[in-house]
Formats: sequence, structure tokens, C-alpha cells
Amino acid sequence: MAYSEATVLAGGLVHIPILIGLVGFFQKFHLGITKKTSKTSEALNKSAQPPKPPEKPSSPPKVVKKTAHQNVPVNTYKPKSPFESTVTENYSLLKEGAIGRVNHITFDLSGGNPKLEYIEGQSIGIIPAGEDAKGKPHKIRLYSIASTKYGDNFKKNSVSLCVRQLQYEKDGQTINGVCSTYLCDIKPGEKVKITGPVGKEMLLPDDEDANIIMLATGTGIAPMRAYLRKMFEPTERQKNNWDFKGKAWLFMGAPKTQNLLYDEDFENYKSKFPENFRYTKAISREEKNSKGGRMYIQDRVLENAGELFALIENPKTHIYLCGLKGMEPGIDEAMITAAKAKGLNWSELRPQLKKAGRWHVETY
Ligand code: FAD
Ligand code: A2P
Repeated sequence: MAYSEATVLAGGLVHIPILIGLVGFFQKFHLGITKKTSKTSEALNKSAQPPKPPEKPSSPPKVVKKTAHQNVPVNTYKPKSPFESTVTENYSLLKEGAIGRVNHITFDLSGGNPKLEYIEGQSIGIIPAGEDAKGKPHKIRLYSIASTKYGDNFKKNSVSLCVRQLQYEKDGQTINGVCSTYLCDIKPGEKVKITGPVGKEMLLPDDEDANIIMLATGTGIAPMRAYLRKMFEPTERQKNNWDFKGKAWLFMGAPKTQNLLYDEDFENYKSKFPENFRYTKAISREEKNSKGGRMYIQDRVLENAGELFALIENPKTHIYLCGLKGMEPGIDEAMITAAKAKGLNWSELRPQLKKAGRWHVETY
């Protein structure tokens, strides 16, 4: 899917007045939700101890959005003047027998003026070389960044992506996606036009005690890989001065074991940080759910509903959803059932989590 950065930028700008209005209240309340309306709200706020609101606020908003992350780099390089980077690495993330093609690709960002910097959870735009059928330059495609801001080599001069080649059949022909094929085929040394960074939806909280629940399908693992490196890679921890002490729980969906992405790294984090990291896989074409269908991450969510909702009740818990757009209804359904079992109403709870800046979704 081509995605316009102008849309992202414009979308961000129209929120500025709203955000300015909310900052004052945020300073007073410092809480995601100010008005308790139901058992769901109470559950959400249970362990928070907010300062009392002023007696008669002139027009109290029900919800005060978090205003952290004010210094996030956005659109340093725009489509009209992209950064020309050099590919340093491009290798397959899949094992023998896997379905399709998914690559880890790294670009050198050194030498830019201004420097192209980003933080974990952002995306970059790629302009594929060549022209479309109308002879016009190809449109930008967005990709979630899979590296931390220090980059895979910790030198703060690179960015990595996790790209699945789009392939589908049409009228008996195999169609290859323009940009994903361009990226999967690209060789080290070749130049690539990069824009961005963009996105503030998938940023991590600053809090070292935060709990991070991650729901990923396929390449939706990209931002989660960056989070987990930031949390558990020794050199990363030493550099970033962020001593993660919360609980991180990754639900990862892949069609086959051979399709699991960055699996060895995650197994390694699990063995080194058993108190802080939980890793739950859903291998759709090898495992069956309780109804005999393909095992998806939403089935794993249901299996772990009690523990998950106990975590969600903690105001320091954030949930991140990334990958296939198609998984959203399934996750919602699982959350409805799981919430019900705890006497909670998901349709009430989800918007509250969203407004509190604790429900983060990037699907495509
Ligand atoms: P295109 O040549 O643009 O083809 C896509 C078009 O093909 C579709 O718009 C549709 O019209 C058509 N099409 C697709 N499937 C079918 C089908 N089955 N039958 C018929 N027609 C079909 N991708 C990643 O791999 N990794 C990421 O980390 C990643 N992050 C993203 C983050 C964001 C915020 C967004 C918005 C998208 C992200 N994507 C990611 C998706 C990426 O931007 C591209 O959309 C994807 O790579 C396909 O682009 P393409 O140029 O290869 O395909
Ligand atoms: P499947 O393709 O077996 O139906 P990848 O991007 O590597 O193909 O991985 C995506 C994973 O997400 C696969 O395991 C895929 O299963 C699974 N998946 C497909 N549709 C959904 C959905 N609606 N909800 C959750 N997971 C899904």
C-alpha cells in the first residue's frame, strides 16, 4: 500500500491545537482518565493515585492525553529531497522451508546534513527506483523501523527494516509488489532514497517500570524487535541508560516455525531475563486453536486472558499491535471475551486505553 507522508504530516498538524489545550489539564491531573464512570474505569485506575482535580474546573475534559515524546524527529527528509543512503546489508530472515520471502535490510545514514535520526517505534519512507506505468516516479512506501536509534552496529548511523516481499496471483500471473521486491532484491552498495522518519503512535513510554504487551503478525515484529533490543541487548542497555524493569510480553504470529522472525534473539532474551520477558508464539499452519482452526495470536490472547487483563489493569501497561490489518477484528473479539471474563467491558475500556496513550496500533 502506498502511503502519503503529507497525510501523516497534515494529520499531525491538525492535532496541535487540541494538544495545546490538553497540556494544561495534563499538568494538573497527570493521569490518562479523570472521570470514573464504570467498573471498567475503576479497574483501569485501580493502582494509580491521581492528585485530586481542582474543585470547579471551567471545562474539564474527560480525558487527558499523554504529552510525552515532544522531541521526536519527524520528516527530517521529505519526498522532494530524500536522503540518499547506501545499503550495507540485506539478508533473509527465514529458514529453509519457510513460506515467502522476508529480509532484514540495513541502510547507512552517515553523512546526512541534517542527520537522519529516529527513535524506536517510528517508520521511514522508501522511494523505489524507477517509474510507474504512467512514467511517474514511484510513490513512497512506509516501513516500520526494526532497529533501535543506535542501529544494529550501535554506532547511531544506520537504520534497519524487516520487509516481506508482496506477491499475489492475478489472472494466472504472479504479481510482485513494487517496493517490497525492490528492497528484497537490493544489494549492499546500492543507493536508496529514504524519507522521514514519521510516526508517533508506536513510541515506547519513558518509564523503566512500564509493562509492554506486544501483539505482532509477520513483519509487524519490526518495531517490537527494536523495543526488545532496547530492553535486553547488553550493549544497547549500556548505551541507552534505560534500565527496563517492567514486564515485556510478546505474542508473535507466523505461518510456520521457519517463518519466525528474530526467534533466536528473543529466545536468548527469554533465557537471560526470565522475570522480564515472556514470548508466546502462534504458528498458524502447524498448531490448531481450540476450535480446530489455525492458531492465531488472538487465540493465544484468549488462552492467557486472566494474566493479560491483570497486567492491563496496571496503568503502567501499554499494548502494541502491529502487522496485518486483518488481525484487528480478531484481537478485538478476543479482548471482548477476555475482558468479559474479568467483568470488564472492552468496548468501553479500549477507547479509554487509547486516550490514555496506552493502546498503540499500526497495521497495514
Ligand atoms: P505495491 O506494488 O504497492 O502493491 C500493493 C497493491 O497491490 C495493493 O495496494 C493492492 O492494490 C494490491 N494487492 C495486494 N495484495 C493483493 C492481492 N492479494 N490481490 C490483489 N491485489 C493485491 N511492510 C513490510 O514488509 N514491513 C514493514 O515493516 C512495514 N511497515 C509498514 C508500516 C506502515 C505504517 C505502513 C502503512 C505500511 C507498512 N508496510 C510494511 C507495508 C508497505 O508499506 C508496503 O505497503 C508493502 O511493502 C507493499 O508495497 P509494494 O510496493 O511491494 O506493493
Ligand atoms: P495464515 O497465513 O496461516 O492464515 P506472515 O506475514 O509471515 O505471513 O505472517 C502472518 C501471520 O499472521 C500468519 O501466521 C498468518 O496466518 C497470520 N494471520 C493471517 N490472518 C490473520 C488474522 N486475521 N488474525 C491473526 N493472524 C492472522
